[in-house]
Amino acid sequence: MQDFDAIVIGAGAAGLFCAGVAAQRGLSVLLIDHSAKLAEKIRISGGGRCNFTNRELDPATPQQHFIGQNPHFCRSALARYTPGDFIELVRRHGIPHHEKHKGQLFCDRSAEDIIEMLVAECGGGASGGSVLRWMACAVKAVRHSDAGYEVDTDNGLARARQLVVATGALSIPKIGATDFGFRLAKQFGLRLVEPRPGLVPLTFDGAGWAPFAGLAGLALPVRVSTGSGKARTAFLEDLLFTHRGLSGPAILQISSYWQEGTPIAVDLAPGTDLAGLLAQAKQSGSRKKAINELTAWMPSRLAEAWSANDPALQRPIVEAPDKALSSLAQRIARWELTPNGSEGYRKAEVTVGGVDTRDLSSQTMEARAQPGLFFIGEVVDVTGWLGGYNFQWAWASAHACGQAL
Ligand code: FDA
Repeated sequence: MQDFDAIVIGAGAAGLFCAGVAAQRGLSVLLIDHSAKLAEKIRISGGGRCNFTNRELDPATPQQHFIGQNPHFCRSALARYTPGDFIELVRRHGIPHHEKHKGQLFCDRSAEDIIEMLVAECGGGASGGSVLRWMACAVKAVRHSDAGYEVDTDNGLARARQLVVATGALSIPKIGATDFGFRLAKQFGLRLVEPRPGLVPLTFDGAGWAPFAGLAGLALPVRVSTGSGKARTAFLEDLLFTHRGLSGPAILQISSYWQEGTPIAVDLAPGTDLAGLLAQAKQSGSRKKAINELTAWMPSRLAEAWSANDPALQRPIVEAPDKALSSLAQRIARWELTPNGSEGYRKAEVTVGGVDTRDLSSQTMEARAQPGLFFIGEVVDVTGWLGGYNFQWAWASAHACGQAL
């Protein structure tokens, strides 16, 4: 039996960072991961350049960028460890980075830079703290007694007064995602919010999608929305047609809000008064077909797909009935369609849902009814938007926990 101050299970974004924070406070930490590779999700994130945070994150209004049963839960941790704090750390380690659109920060070279930085932070410095890593080491069982948490692993038994669960959630099983964190939460009596894939491409039934399958590869800026009334959510982003459905940032974002069986609405020409423009073209006596007029405002393949089936639109626009033109404009501005599902955890960047935040302290991430047991990162029911928000939650929740150990 080996004794430590804290055991962290999961050496991903949250686990690695938390272990480093704790070691710098002088603690002896054991960091365990069943995978042989460290922080594989960081490595593949942001197209290999890791979108590590977002400058637009405002901790005072977390509900703007985070989803969860209680979107205010993440406020305290995000306010105490901000994007500015992480950017400062990145600067201290001399990692070149740049801002893309909408406040997203990426490494110039590679996501490896972030992993190396997190490993270096695990050094403990002058504090006397340390992080021992057991990698490619499965956890067989966790028991709790007066002596603390006993973790039974491939490398033998380890014990600590404090146990941190940073095993992420269900997205991308191919690189090591498991439901371990959810099972452990249940074992200790914590509630779970039903998990589902988030930031994921949406799919449509084969026959219904056939007319659009030929558009695969086409990308364009759209406004996409779902939900009704006050709960309606919309994003202005790029959409990508795929062979099985829709993807691109607009769809990934809306997928986290989409409820099965409900429609999404897509405006394929946002900010353009198509009805007015088509009416103007007709008034000017244009002898071009509607499809040719449309190509001034949208990709020609899309214009073709939306006007090809209406014989009234195959004539010069000056001869096209007003009704056919306004109906065309309406169909383009409000394309309503109901996905039959999503590409699932195989392709989802995150898991929506997870350990119920009612059972955790928002100050420390400790289980309210199970002293010494902490949950951080994606395993918790806090899901960020695309754009660096999920990593910032991993850093902030890890920091809150690491300070409390
Ligand atoms: P994470 O999944 O990083 O780590 C969990 C660790 O626990 C893993 O190392 C795993 O092997 C280990 N583990 C799991 N089960 C275990 C078990 N039973 N025993 C022992 N160990 C176990 N976010 C963002 O902000 N910007 C971005 O650019 C991207 N890009 C991106 C791309 C892709 C393709 C994906 C899939 C995801 C993203 N994300 C992202 C999301 C981001 O990667 C995610 O939110 C964080 O990695 C979550 O950090 P965690 O540490 O909670 O889990």
